[in-house]
Amino acid sequence: MKVTVIGGGSWGLGLSKVLADNGHDVLVYDVNEKIVDKINTLHICIQLNEFIPESIKATNQIKEAVNFSDVLLFVVPTKVLRQAITSIIPDLDRPKLFINAAKGIEPETFKRVSEIFEEMIDPDKFKGFVALSGPSHAEEVMKGLPTLITSASKSQENAKYVQSLLHNSDYFRVYSSTDLIGAELGGALKNIFALATGLLRGQGLGDNAVAALMTRGLVEMGKFYDYFGAGKESLMGLTGVGDLIVTCTSPHSRNYQAGYKIGKGKDLNETLDSMTMVVEGIRTCEAAYHLAKKENIDAPIINALYDVVFNRVDPKLAYEQLLSRDQKAE
Ligand SMILES: NC(=O)c1ccc[n+]([C@@H]2O[C@H](COP(=O)([O-])OP(=O)(O)OC[C@H]3O[C@@H](n4cnc5c(N)ncnc54)[C@H](O)[C@@H]3O)[C@@H](O)[C@H]2O)c1
Repeated sequence: MKVTVIGGGSWGLGLSKVLADNGHDVLVYDVNEKIVDKINTLHICIQLNEFIPESIKATNQIKEAVNFSDVLLFVVPTKVLRQAITSIIPDLDRPKLFINAAKGIEPETFKRVSEIFEEMIDPDKFKGFVALSGPSHAEEVMKGLPTLITSASKSQENAKYVQSLLHNSDYFRVYSSTDLIGAELGGALKNIFALATGLLRGQGLGDNAVAALMTRGLVEMGKFYDYFGAGKESLMGLTGVGDLIVTCTSPHSRNYQAGYKIGKGKDLNETLDSMTMVVEGIRTCEAAYHLAKKENIDAPIINALYDVVFNRVDPKLAYEQLLSRDQKAE
């Protein structure tokens, strides 16, 4: 099969490697000419400083990328997603299957990525949508370390098709699911709690506090799942608790790293400037905070994190306030 990958960053190239290892032809499109050049000449992912299979080719010509295949895998930060979709629209001359592996929610609208695609792509050019999510650091996939993720779509046929494209019995096991909402919510919301976990660690708190935050974070995630009608199996699966665990406990998580720096007292803008890769949790926290306020969803950790990040509340004061909330049943 031929697959076009839009976005040649860490995860775009991690997934490109899996596709190439599975024998598929991969063309990567990126707006950054340096990235395209390094893929074509040195066969490396510059974000991770890792070699990638030589069969992976790259271009910065959007027309060439769109024409290359009928399967477009998007792996760009959600902040630039609308821009990336806008750039492909003029060259869409036939229906395509869209896959998204980015994890985030649009702050202004709380739209999931699938909703943005459905809104922006002409139904005549839309063959379907699949979300890829689960505990998956690009750093480990690049090294061929065992990883399990989920291919989720409203269409079981599309979910299974993408499952078969990416499944690799040596190191990359893919499950299929029809709970698209659950998969998209889990991938986005867990980044909020990774930021919060980093913040606690930066403040010098211990394992007990981190375990408590992850557990109560899962409860808050569940309230959003209930609100949107997502399945509890997803909350307890790879795209929910699985991704929450990996992102709250791994040094590879840039959301955790950003939280850690803020917890150590670094300014938010200074922290974001120092990160070479995307920190989705900040946008998602903003989105979740406003939705929770509007819809009366009780989300104390999200509220506290929002106050630290956007209102510059001292992290110590924020967790002291969390601890001093009214006593209640679990
Ligand atoms: N890195 C991981 O381990 C990992 C794992 C799972 C999911 N994700 C998710 O994948 C998404 C991307 O993360 P990443 O780590 O690859 O980020 P990254 O910063 O490493 O790469 C993003 C890439 O997108 C490119 N880009 C920006 N605008 C573009 C456009 N309009 N068209 C085409 N390319 C464009 C950039 O040049 C860059 O190469 C995020 O939502 C992240 O949460 C990342």
